[in-house]
Amino acid sequence: EEMEKRVREIKERLGEELFIPGHHYQKEEVVVFSDSTGDSLQLAQVAANNKKAKYIVFCGVHFMAETADILTEDDQIVILPDMRAGCSMADMADHHQTDRAWLALQELFGDTIVPLTYVNSTAAIKAFVGKNDGATVTSSNAKKVVSWAFTQKERILFLPDQHLGRNTAYELGVPLEHMAIWNPITDTLEYDGDIQDIKVILWKGHCSVHENFTVKNIENVRKNHPDMRIIVHPECSREVVAASDDNGSTKYIIDQIEAAPAGSKWAIGTEMNLVQRIIKNHPDKEIISLNPFMCPCLTMNRIDLPHLLWSLENIEKGNIQNIITVDKETASDAIKALDKMLELA
Ligand code: 13P
Ligand code: SF4
Repeated sequence: EEMEKRVREIKERLGEELFIPGHHYQKEEVVVFSDSTGDSLQLAQVAANNKKAKYIVFCGVHFMAETADILTEDDQIVILPDMRAGCSMADMADHHQTDRAWLALQELFGDTIVPLTYVNSTAAIKAFVGKNDGATVTSSNAKKVVSWAFTQKERILFLPDQHLGRNTAYELGVPLEHMAIWNPITDTLEYDGDIQDIKVILWKGHCSVHENFTVKNIENVRKNHPDMRIIVHPECSREVVAASDDNGSTKYIIDQIEAAPAGSKWAIGTEMNLVQRIIKNHPDKEIISLNPFMCPCLTMNRIDLPHLLWSLENIEKGNIQNIITVDKETASDAIKALDKMLELA
């Protein structure tokens, strides 16, 4: 209570100088102090539109704070309350690996590939994509951006989440046989069939939270709650998405449950903090996590009330810590990829 009081007081004193965006996967103790809550796309848009705040205390993970720094003005300061709040998926692609992959893929396919990266990637990967005339993608605009990419060239390289890439391309009509996997550990293309048929090259990365939702979980829900509707995030595997009733970004999941009638029953396959919040906000509906172990994102959870308070007190003391800055050269390439996405969104 004492910490909450101090956060409230600092927020009041700093007024519009301070802006706290919070991702849907953040803990409740942090979300209550967020000025704007959203999915990755919404938070990128909010950061791009905020010209007033001097301090942006980003309650999310490192790549989101980097994106905010790229999209905001030079005199706006982006702060991540805990530097250990990374994303294991974003760490699955580094720029040395992408440089090697790009060279090899150009040799195989020539100039026929548009690179796309999920926003869950480092600024360096976004810069690589921007430099090569590609775009960033979020789970709520992936179909739009992938469709655009196919109007530009014959093939796409999708980084770093193979599942979002595969699910999106499949739903747009690309058969699974026309998708290959780039393995960044062995620097090889994993594919059976005629190489010229490849339309989508998926980076071999994944989300360590969403891979915990399984077809077995779905079978259990179907058996024990036959009238429950199953909705999952597209970071889940193709098999899980195919076996569920619906899939979409965090915002899409929230909107679907909000629009559903009282008494409806849902099993949700996404991060624990969001599922718990949805359960709390909808006492008139029966809602469970698709995986009974709930699946927390440990790095999202590193941002908690003490870290938020620590960041705010440091601002007031004039001793700002954990500033996220993307160097100018990286930012100028990365912004091309982000701008393309925001334009399409
Ligand atoms: P969205 O907010 O775009 O649905 O992404 C989920 C996620 O994993 C963020 O890290
Ligand atoms: Fe990364 Fe997955 Fe956590 Fe999102 S939920 S921050 S993709 S590890």
